[in-house]
Amino acid sequence: MLIRVPFPHEPQASEITPHRVWDKRRDLIRVAAASMALPFASGPANGQTGKATLKLAAVPGPYPTTDKPTSYRDVTTYNNFYEFGLDKSDPLENAQGLRTRPWSVEIAGEAEVTGRFTLEDILKPHALEERVYRFRCVEAWSRVVPWLGLPLGDLLKRFRPTSRAKFVEFTTLLDPRQMPGQRSGVLDWPYVEGLRIDEAVHPLSLLVVGLYGRWLPNQSGAPLRLIVPWKYGFKSIKSIVRIRFTERQPRTSWNQMAPDEYGFYANVNPAVDHPRWSQAKERRIGANFLAPRIDTLPFNGYAAEVAGLYRGLDLRRFY
Ligand code: MTE
Repeated sequence: MLIRVPFPHEPQASEITPHRVWDKRRDLIRVAAASMALPFASGPANGQTGKATLKLAAVPGPYPTTDKPTSYRDVTTYNNFYEFGLDKSDPLENAQGLRTRPWSVEIAGEAEVTGRFTLEDILKPHALEERVYRFRCVEAWSRVVPWLGLPLGDLLKRFRPTSRAKFVEFTTLLDPRQMPGQRSGVLDWPYVEGLRIDEAVHPLSLLVVGLYGRWLPNQSGAPLRLIVPWKYGFKSIKSIVRIRFTERQPRTSWNQMAPDEYGFYANVNPAVDHPRWSQAKERRIGANFLAPRIDTLPFNGYAAEVAGLYRGLDLRRFY
């Protein structure tokens, strides 16, 4: 069974999926998953303005959480996407004209298979999973999001990285005509991020195409973004056009901009403060503003899964 969801601009982001409806939908996914293997069907790339629905099917992924998902509205109206402005409401306002079909991703560097792949090529062989992850921004707010995506490692292995591939670099689209923020010098464009290869192929790392059962809206990083849930949100690069396997640690946008404040690793760590604020607690978006802030957990609560990746590494020095 395929669950039909509307194309990105319909319905408007202002339409919230009530949790009880959402819960029913999740039951449907579970039933479908139990009865058959669900392939991903991308449907025709029929453009941003098309009224046609595309089919998005997903199976529930691992790492369940009891945390209540943040509302669709709160996830899609309060965003960081500096290509579209610095205020949290700017991406919703300014990103709607971004053309996300057709879209292609260049695979480059230390791999046996390189070249340019359409979004459909990238997605077709993979089953989409729904994963409800905690997401912690370096600005000390957090949310819980049902993402739809595929394990990043499954995709990367298709390109057969060579033994020289120690890191993976990700690059966002560079197009100042579509991305007005790129006409300013706030960051050195295009936005770039990177992971060590063992982080990139860790089963928690997700290449995301949707949230709440829908395709990603533009402000959330359509059509393809990263989610690395044990790291601060700035590692989760949006609107990816290039994936490059490298021997050396790649440069990353925020680290270049302010190396004292933003490291390459960016693992969520309540014991290491940002130079200008504490990282010990966080505000859950959508919670009553008067609600007490909650404790931030090491590795954002995923220590059991990922702490081993950093055994022997001084996490204060490699922040
Ligand atoms: N990716 C690009 N290309 N440009 C950005 O400005 N901001 C990062 C990250 N990915 C950013 C980006 C930061 S700081 C955060 S917290 C998350 O996106 C925000 O993702 P969200 O808007 O879906 O919550």
